[in-house]
Amino acid sequence: MTPKAPLLIVEHPVVARDLTILRNKETPSAVFRPVLNRLATILAYHALDKLPLREVTVQTPIQATKGFEIDTQVIVVPILRAGLGLVHAITQFIPEAKIGHLGIYRDETTHKPVEYYVNLPKTGLSDGTVLLVDPMLATGGSACDAIGYLKTKGVQKIRFMCLIAAPEGVEAVQQQHPDVPIITASVDEKLNENAYIVPGLGDAGDRIFGTD
Ligand code: PRP
Ligand code: URA
Repeated sequence: MTPKAPLLIVEHPVVARDLTILRNKETPSAVFRPVLNRLATILAYHALDKLPLREVTVQTPIQATKGFEIDTQVIVVPILRAGLGLVHAITQFIPEAKIGHLGIYRDETTHKPVEYYVNLPKTGLSDGTVLLVDPMLATGGSACDAIGYLKTKGVQKIRFMCLIAAPEGVEAVQQQHPDVPIITASVDEKLNENAYIVPGLGDAGDRIFGTD
């Protein structure tokens, strides 16, 4: 049996408090956005764990000593549009990261992913590390589609970061892409009949961009 990729559920009092603010339907976009960014920053810290390092020598004011630099090209790929809200969380740790865009939306009737825009870096995909980001992993259709697409472009190292996952989405990614670790703040109870995460936080894109 192929081993499942790790599922990391980040547990911390600040994460629990911030998730509660995001879940609250009374939270306006003006508060939703900075709280999402704060929570995403904590997740990003974990999502970037165990990146390869190369040794360098650094001269302190006292003497030369061993130091480290990140030894992989990091590429952040937000699934548009809601994934855009998670990009800054990664780039504040890796300012030199490249950013690719994958436009995928869920058809409201079929709940199946539809690709409408792709713009990825021209170099670095095959030996870099892609952080695929989207606040919600519901059926897993969008994430699996995005991961599959990235693999057709030669990407070999992919990590998926989201705020909230449904058990169904986790299972879909683990089944179809057992090499892709998932980093999340919560695995919620289930999906409802409209394939929304229960309890979830509603439509992440609408809440980030104020389009609800
Ligand atoms: C949401 C969310 C994910 C997708 C998750 O995007 O941001 O991309 O749904 O659902 P799935 O796991 O069932 O595929 P949406 O289609 O609402 O588009 P948006 O980001 O433009 O709001
Ligand atoms: N997309 C969202 O934004 N929220 C959900 O609960 C499911 C899909």
